[in-house]
Amino acid sequence: MATNKGKEPVCVTGANGFIGSWVVRTLLESGYTTIHTSIFPGSDSAHLFNLQASTNPNASLRVFEANVMDGEAVARAVEGCKGVFHIASPCTLEDPIDPQKELVEPAVQGTVNVLNAAKKFGVRRVVLTSSISALVPNPGWPSGMPFDESSWTDIEYCKSRKKWYPVSKTLAEKSAWEFVENHGLDVVSILPATCLGPLLQPNLNASCAVLLQLLQGSQDSQEYHWLGAVHVKDIAKAQILLFESPTASGRYLCTNGIYQFSDFADKVSKMCPQFPVHRFVGETQPGLVACKDAAKRLIDLGLVFTPLEVAIQDTLESLRSKGFLDQ
Ligand SMILES: NC(=O)c1ccc[n+]([C@@H]2O[C@H](COP(=O)([O-])OP(=O)(O)OC[C@H]3O[C@@H](n4cnc5c(N)ncnc54)[C@H](OP(=O)(O)O)[C@@H]3O)[C@@H](O)[C@H]2O)c1
Repeated sequence: MATNKGKEPVCVTGANGFIGSWVVRTLLESGYTTIHTSIFPGSDSAHLFNLQASTNPNASLRVFEANVMDGEAVARAVEGCKGVFHIASPCTLEDPIDPQKELVEPAVQGTVNVLNAAKKFGVRRVVLTSSISALVPNPGWPSGMPFDESSWTDIEYCKSRKKWYPVSKTLAEKSAWEFVENHGLDVVSILPATCLGPLLQPNLNASCAVLLQLLQGSQDSQEYHWLGAVHVKDIAKAQILLFESPTASGRYLCTNGIYQFSDFADKVSKMCPQFPVHRFVGETQPGLVACKDAAKRLIDLGLVFTPLEVAIQDTLESLRSKGFLDQ
């Protein structure tokens, strides 16, 4: 196990969610000893303490209840930390009743509140969890070119189709870069694709639900929300790599390749012939150019991606063991 010396105190927002829990676990495994876990008031964080007991019993894991809309509560969570992993943001693909209140405001104002607190307390670097939903859909992207970090989601296109999650993530990331420009702060953003892997938290999160629904026969083509998939372990490793790498800057796409959702569905179908996985006809993401090393910037920093089959298999086993899947 890594030694406990020399690791800076860090804060993780959304610490009890799917990705947040894996970031906490990976920080503990990497020898971080002072971790402020910021969670939505009243939500369950018991599993984080089980993780601590099994990985790094000497670490100090402190829980801060903070709605990210509450700047003062966020500041209490960030105070004393040198790094912040801002992960908290509503992550649902379901249609909201009030998109502004349910998705956009917590994503944008939450990000600004975290950055304000980071600036106030002299945080060395913030790693912001953005999303491929801040990169696609972008119908203006040149045809024949694989997407990279220079692409931004077309907000008006999404609004006209009532796709509010990409709107929320795009506005949140844009507000972060605007903050950096106006106030100066070291921020690095990570843009994960559909994230799979074992659930450490008790509830079912949106991206693992995509695989579950596919197994149950869903015909949703994920047209607006797909670029590829990535193992949650790789996202957690990438987050820490981005925090620790002095040269890291800007945006980092985090996906094990770019390919059509129909290709993903084919792979799942072959791996799980007992399930009624839908066979999509034609391109589910029209014009999407496949690319194996789309996350070149992270690969160049040293990240090695877990094979897709392992991510699928790990998710299946976890869904079964948690009782979400019974075959
Ligand atoms: N999973 C993916 O495929 C994927 C891909 C790209 C980017 N992302 C991004 O990764 C982050 C984490 O997503 P996830 O997959 O781990 O989903 P998740 O399990 O739903 O985690 C989201 C976390 O944010 C918290 N949260 C939401 N609104 C909040 C608020 N107003 N104040 C405080 N906390 C709040 C949630 O708390 P409660 O559950 O207690 O409400 C939860 O802990 C999000 O920023 C998401 O946009 C996810």
